[in-house]
Amino acid sequence: MKLLDLVVQNGELKGKFIEKFSEIIDYGHFILGPEVEQFERNVADYLSSKYTLGVSSGTDALLLTLMAMNIGPGDEVLCPGYTFFCTAGCAARLGANPVFADVNCDDFCISIADLKAKISPKTRAIIGVHLFGQVCDCEAILELCEKNGIKFIEDCAQSFGAKRNGKQSGTFANVGCFSFFPSKNLGGFGDSGLVCTDDEVLYERMKILRTHGMKPRYFHKYVGGNFRMDTLQAALLNIKLGHLDRYIGSRTRNAELYLEKLVELESAGLITLPRVMAGNSHTWNQFTIKVHGNRRDELRRYLSDRGIGCEIYYPLPLNKQECFAKYASQLPISEQLARESLSLPVYPELTPAHLSSVISAIKEFFSGLKRSWT
Ligand SMILES: Cc1ncc(COP(=O)(O)O)c(C=O)c1O
Repeated sequence: MKLLDLVVQNGELKGKFIEKFSEIIDYGHFILGPEVEQFERNVADYLSSKYTLGVSSGTDALLLTLMAMNIGPGDEVLCPGYTFFCTAGCAARLGANPVFADVNCDDFCISIADLKAKISPKTRAIIGVHLFGQVCDCEAILELCEKNGIKFIEDCAQSFGAKRNGKQSGTFANVGCFSFFPSKNLGGFGDSGLVCTDDEVLYERMKILRTHGMKPRYFHKYVGGNFRMDTLQAALLNIKLGHLDRYIGSRTRNAELYLEKLVELESAGLITLPRVMAGNSHTWNQFTIKVHGNRRDELRRYLSDRGIGCEIYYPLPLNKQECFAKYASQLPISEQLARESLSLPVYPELTPAHLSSVISAIKEFFSGLKRSWT
């Protein structure tokens, strides 16, 4: 079994995709076609957000947002040290300095205490990442941003559909940035993304920047880029969006089974299971355990040898990446998570047999170590 297998999920809807694609092939409007606008409206309704824009990827959603906020050389952008590269890479690409805050051990999200310690007069924005599908402490970040006159950006690449106190991820900040990379809960057939905002001025700027900063056509108001969404992607995402809550429901059922069946290993101090924080609904884009006693890599090999896909998100925190050597700092929790975290298959179409084989293999691994967890 792979860490993620999309064949069943996409197979179920194949007929609908082909019917829609065939319509688009016949009318031939392949970029920013009517399906993109329809997708933007559907997502705006789903999120209860005023404005949305379909873009070319989650990375470009972040880049476009920072560009619209005029963030550049001399500015600092605070973000977690434990996340996918592009959260910080986008700030660096614009000449700004990413400043890494450590994360919490329990929810893998940015630490408010470390954010407070690292805010400086140069800070222009905080990027909060809802890692693995759980919303970070947006209320605390908002308070910090308002107090310090800085922008808040949510990186929702892994959290489409996640809520905090009943509010959708992406709708707390000035701008929410989404990815529809195939492995996300709402995954396309390639790259695409979306930004959402309630701020009309930012929306208008992002709309112009999305197409080379031009308005009207061939008259360039800003230096923008090609951040446009393909019609085919939007068409298939429109179809899949109607199934998203069901996908999240199945991921939740799978996660709950792991939580129930693996708790004895946690009680024995061998692993730590992921926690859902008060007020949060988790979308389980990843089910990530922490493996103690320096055994993570051994467990990973053990599972791989038995045909069970698993992955390390992420093996090296951003403060230790070669390209960020000049921003090097110490982030003890991020570094610990990089040594201990292991993500297990949790995708919606896993069968009970799949799940029980993962659970049995993990238990066998630890019983083989002759520890007294039984
Ligand atoms: C936390 C996070 N941010 C941003 C991105 C970037 O999204 P994309 O791959 O669509 O550019 C990803 C995707 O892997 C991600 O996991």
